[in-house]
Amino acid sequence: MSRNKPDHQINGMGGLMAYVFGLSGIINILALTGAFYMLQIYDRALASGSISTLVALSALAIGLYLFQGIFDILRSQILVRLGARLDERLAPLAHKVVIDMPRYGYSTAEATERGRDVDTLRGFLASPGLIALFDLPFMPIYLVFVWLLHPMLGLLTIGGAVVLGLLTLATELLTRRHAKEMLRSAVLRNAVIDSNARNSDIMHSMGITGRAIDRFERANRRHLETQTKTSDISGTFAGLSKVLRMMLQSAILGLGAYLTIKGELSAGSIIASSIVTARALAPVDQAIAQWKGMVAARRSHARLKETLAVITDDDGLLALPAPQESLTVEAITTVAPHTGAVLLSDVSFELKAGQALALIGPSGGGKTTLVRSLLGIWPTLRGAVRVDGADLKQWPASFFSEHVGYLPQDVALMDGTISDNICRFTDTPEPRSIIRAARQAGIHELIVRLPNGYQTELGPNGMSLSAGQRQRIALARALYGDPFLIVLDEPNSNLDSEGEEALMLAITKVRARGGIVVIVAHRPSALQPVDMVGVMQNGKLVAFGPKEDVIKPPAPQLVRQMPERVVAAE
Ligand SMILES: Nc1ncnc2c1ncn2[C@@H]1O[C@H](COP(=O)(O)OP(=O)(O)OP(=O)(O)O)[C@@H](O)[C@H]1O
Ligand SMILES: [Mg+2]
Repeated sequence: MSRNKPDHQINGMGGLMAYVFGLSGIINILALTGAFYMLQIYDRALASGSISTLVALSALAIGLYLFQGIFDILRSQILVRLGARLDERLAPLAHKVVIDMPRYGYSTAEATERGRDVDTLRGFLASPGLIALFDLPFMPIYLVFVWLLHPMLGLLTIGGAVVLGLLTLATELLTRRHAKEMLRSAVLRNAVIDSNARNSDIMHSMGITGRAIDRFERANRRHLETQTKTSDISGTFAGLSKVLRMMLQSAILGLGAYLTIKGELSAGSIIASSIVTARALAPVDQAIAQWKGMVAARRSHARLKETLAVITDDDGLLALPAPQESLTVEAITTVAPHTGAVLLSDVSFELKAGQALALIGPSGGGKTTLVRSLLGIWPTLRGAVRVDGADLKQWPASFFSEHVGYLPQDVALMDGTISDNICRFTDTPEPRSIIRAARQAGIHELIVRLPNGYQTELGPNGMSLSAGQRQRIALARALYGDPFLIVLDEPNSNLDSEGEEALMLAITKVRARGGIVVIVAHRPSALQPVDMVGVMQNGKLVAFGPKEDVIKPPAPQLVRQMPERVVAAE
């Protein structure tokens, strides 16, 4: 990804921008056609009464207008393509960050908002606002033209331009305050929408849809208020600028007439100067009218740079040989993203190839936190996780896709078919491996009985399947491709006895082929195929060792009362 250095991505459009700037120069010079035509008609054709001059002038003007039109079309096409190119390059990078953000404690609404920055920027590149910005620097051409007609007219136009410039500045200063608020209210509103949409079952079953709508309405109102304020400011100034521009145009006519009466100006010059003044000030008008879009684009640009700056480059990482020896956890400490609370302190252990560890302990003890840190989902504050001696940070992304299988506690399947999910959306799925993984997870028979078999579309979060079925598909996904390290967070919470049996067998098989399994378990049955047990309590690994040492055999009288009781040794 070093080729795609984000900053370079945003700033590397300089060449094309210079081209557009050049085109804008030509367009603005050609825009003087109307004024010149007017001058020539009044001062030459009318004065001489020559039809042939009139025809020649008209033909010339038509030609120049056509050129202006062609260049105008070319310019907007270039800008649209520039936007598309920018989007093409940046959207995947921004999306990478969007995927990562929830892991660091950001809401999905915040994450998707960041993803939209690219859209905003692309939209702006194709908008009249940007074209106005390109036209603005060429205002002096028109000022010089008017000045040459008569310095007094030039002075009046410059004065008008200065006033309009001040209006633009005022718009900028007044809207700047609201820009941040606009963004925040949008994120808040989207967070409510997101949460409401995800919890429709709860809303319906407990009759709180009305309250959810109220919550949305409040967030939406706040969002609208900031929108209204910003639009009010830019709308007011846009109106002012328009009136001023019209007044100025008439003032130019008036002054022109005065100068003509005094014999200092020709009649053609009056109209020519009026046309040119209008054209000179139009971009200012446009810019003010489009200010809201410009503010949004600028914020998006700044935030996008910030977003892309966090992308870490793992292209430079050397591909290490496939892992086959050990998993070492060295004194890792993990803090919660956002709050900074210590969730895991000083956890160390080691597993060799062929070993399986069961993590047990009370709810909230830190089992999930440990496996998340183990896989680098949450960055560790201190300590290291090593596979075959190499820190996780040294392994390229391909290590995780080839050698790690993970079944999260909240089973989430992705939009796609069963087969897509099992093979993790690889471009080159191997049917035999998919079926093998499904068989190991004990779900193959069930899949082939579905009308579309492995091609069954699962929809959002795999909603078309039962919880136990989802869990087994996720288990098959973790087993796909025989990864070296398999981490299962309560894989049996929704399994029936048949499913559990398949799970136990799968773990035994992984051990036999020299893989490592870490399984979080509440149910003692999960302990059967493992050889090591760790007990997590208050974010600490309070016991770790061979199963027989950690688990005390339950006393005979307890067996009858609590057959599933597991006692941890301290
Ligand atoms: N994103 C988070 N931000 C802050 N604290 C968190 C976060 N996720 C978990 N915790 C806290 O970390 C502690 C350990 O949670 P964890 O999910 O690891 O427990 P667990 O042992 O897996 O429990 P269970 O058996 O219920 O799954 C809990 O006290 C929880 O409140
Ligand atoms: Mg857990």
